Amino acid sequence: MLTRMSAGLETDSTVVFTPHYSCRMNSRVAMARWQKSIKFQDQVEEEFSGKLNFLTAGELMISGSSLKFMEQIRYPGTGWVLVEFSTSVTWLETLIQLRRIISRGYRPLVAHPERYGWCRRKRSRLITLSRMGCGSMISARSFRFKKYASTARSLLRDGLSHAICSDAHSPRDHIIDTRMKKTIGEYSRIQWQVLTKDIPQMILNDERLPELPLQKQRKYE
Ligand SMILES: [Fe+2]
Repeated sequence: MLTRMSAGLETDSTVVFTPHYSCRMNSRVAMARWQKSIKFQDQVEEEFSGKLNFLTAGELMISGSSLKFMEQIRYPGTGWVLVEFSTSVTWLETLIQLRRIISRGYRPLVAHPERYGWCRRKRSRLITLSRMGCGSMISARSFRFKKYASTARSLLRDGLSHAICSDAHSPRDHIIDTRMKKTIGEYSRIQWQVLTKDIPQMILNDERLPELPLQKQRKYE
């Protein structure tokens, strides 16, 4: 999958590994996953040396009162933490949890908002989240599922996603490549470069992201 991805990415692009973690996970299991992930990063760094850069973070499932593992899974050198919720999460629960994360000094990056009912019913809620300091990132993987693909397309059309990630779980999933660039070009009013390069770079620089909706033809650097 990485070989396929490297063919469509510019030299010197950064790939961030985000294996799944949950706040309810046993610490030993989380630690073992982390070590495995770092080991994998070491292997591919050698293999793709001079072509791609790699970082290890995580995607944290938030539920209940625990906010364990945020320190481990944050994007290295930043306060950005990639978070997800169960698909049945309510808007109120989402708001409360994101406020808790912000109050601990982190910057939540909401993974695949197109999967949540609160977003599908009222997409402008992502504007509220962006004003609070949250980022939103749709998944290329969502284009495989009819139910999520239509919301993902409307978020792109209205500039309501800061970025796009692959979220690839298996070789069947979409990746950030020329085919995805074409798909995004059909639906998005925001340029591919903004969604896959400029704003992701702001995340890696630990910068606050712009308020949604993103504006057509505006430069985000
Ligand atoms: Fe996820």
